[in-house]
Amino acid sequence: MQPAETILKVTMDISVIGLGYIGLPTACLLARAGHRVMGVDVNERLVDGINNGATSIDEQDFLELFRQHRPAAATKPAESDVFIICVPTPLDGTSKACDMSAVRSAAYSVKGKLRTGNLVILESTVPAGASKATVIPILEESGLKAGRDFHYAYCPERAFPESLLNEMVNNCRIIGGFDEESGRRAETLYRSFVKGEIIRTGMTEAETVKLMENTYRAVNIALADEFALISEKLGIDVWEAIRIANKHPRVGILKPGPGIGGHCIPIDPLFLVESTESQFIPLAIEISESMPGHVLEQARLVSGKDAPSILILGAAYKGNVNDIRESPSLKMAAIAQQKGWRVGILDPHIQKYAYSMEEFLNAVKGCDCVILATDHSEFREIDLGGVQGNGKLLVDTRNFLDHKKWEAAGFRVKVIGNGRQGRG
Ligand SMILES: NC(=O)c1ccc[n+]([C@@H]2O[C@H](COP(=O)([O-])OP(=O)(O)OC[C@H]3O[C@@H](n4cnc5c(N)ncnc54)[C@H](O)[C@@H]3O)[C@@H](O)[C@H]2O)c1
Repeated sequence: MQPAETILKVTMDISVIGLGYIGLPTACLLARAGHRVMGVDVNERLVDGINNGATSIDEQDFLELFRQHRPAAATKPAESDVFIICVPTPLDGTSKACDMSAVRSAAYSVKGKLRTGNLVILESTVPAGASKATVIPILEESGLKAGRDFHYAYCPERAFPESLLNEMVNNCRIIGGFDEESGRRAETLYRSFVKGEIIRTGMTEAETVKLMENTYRAVNIALADEFALISEKLGIDVWEAIRIANKHPRVGILKPGPGIGGHCIPIDPLFLVESTESQFIPLAIEISESMPGHVLEQARLVSGKDAPSILILGAAYKGNVNDIRESPSLKMAAIAQQKGWRVGILDPHIQKYAYSMEEFLNAVKGCDCVILATDHSEFREIDLGGVQGNGKLLVDTRNFLDHKKWEAAGFRVKVIGNGRQGRG
C-alpha cells in the first residue's frame, strides 16, 4: 500500500461524480486550480452536452469559467487520486426520508476504481451519520479500509444559486474528516480553490452542521409564518409587529410568506429528523407547508366566492430566480386545482409561465383573485394603467406590492398576516 501519509500531489487526478448544479462548477474550479479533472454523470445527454460545450447553468461568471476550464465528461469514473461525490439526495415522498440511492450507486462506482492512497469526498447533503453507516461500508467492500488504505471526508456544499462561484470560492468550508489525515488532505485539496475559512471537524459533525444550517432557516421562517397566523387571529398586522420587534437588539424575525420552497430548506431539516426523531422540526415544517392552503382559504373567504378563479403571480420559490423546485406557488396551484378552481400562473423568469403585457391584462381580467406568491421585482414595477380591478381581490403573501397602486386600479387588497384587514 501507499501509506496514508503519502505526500499530497499538487496536481491531482480528480473524478467529480454528479455534474449538476454543484458538481459541474466544482469540477471547473478544480480544473482552473490546475488539477486534471474528469466529470462523471449517469445522464448521457448531459455528458454529451458538456463534452460539446453545453450547460444549463446560466450564471454569467460560471459560463466564462466553463468555457475556459470545462472538464472532460464520461458516464463512468476512471482511476483517480480523488473522487468527489455530488449526486442528488432528494426526499422520498412516501417515507419522508432521504433517498440515498444516488449516493449509494455513486459510492459503488467509486468502489470499483478505489486504490490505496485515494481520497474520497462526499459533498451531497445526507442524514447525520450517513458517511459512517452507508458510504464508507460500500467503499470498504473493495477490501480497502478507511483511514488505513484510503482517506475519506464529508465536505458539504453551502453555495447559493445566483452567486454560485462567489460562494464556492469565498464561503467558509467545513471538512469532516474520517480521521486527522483525511481531514488534512481534504483541506489541502479545497485550499487549491477556496479563499474562505476552512474548518476541520468530525465527519458526523460536518453532516449535522449542514443540516442544522438549513433547519435554522426553516424553523425561523416557520416562526414568522406562525406569527402571521397568530396576528390574523388577534386582528393585528404581523408586518408592523415584526418591524417593531426587530428593533430589539437581539431579535431578528424573518418575513412570513406563502410557505417554504427551494431545493434545500423544505427538505434538509427532515434528514435530521430521520436520524434523531426530533418532534420540533417536523412541526415547524408542517406550519410552513400549511401556508399555501392558508393563502387559498384567505382568497376564498375574502373574495366571498366558494371557488374563486385565481391568478398566481410567480412560480419560482423566491424572487428574481428561475428555480421552481418545491415552490409554494406550485403547491398552491395544485391544491386549488384539486378543489376545482381555475388557476393561471405567470412568471417572467420561467419560460413556461412567461407572458406579454396583453396576456397579463387578459389573465387579470379573467380571474377573481390575483395572488402575489413570488417577490420578483417585475411584479412590483408592473404598469397597471390598462387594468380594471372592479373590486377583484389581490392577496399579497409577501407584503411586497405597492398596495396604493393596486387599490387605485380598483382592487381590494389582503396581505397575509395582516389581521387588521379582517379574515373575510
Ligand atoms: N443546488 C444547490 O443549491 C445545493 C446547495 C448545497 C448542497 N446541495 C446538495 O448537493 C447535492 C447535489 O445537488 P445538485 O443541485 O448539484 O443536484 P443536481 O440534480 O443538479 O445534479 C446531480 C447530478 O448527479 C447525477 N447523478 C445522479 N446519480 C448519479 C450517479 N450514481 N453517478 C453519477 N452521477 C449521478 C445526475 O444525473 C445529475 O446530473 C445534493 O445532495 C444537494 O442537496 C445542493
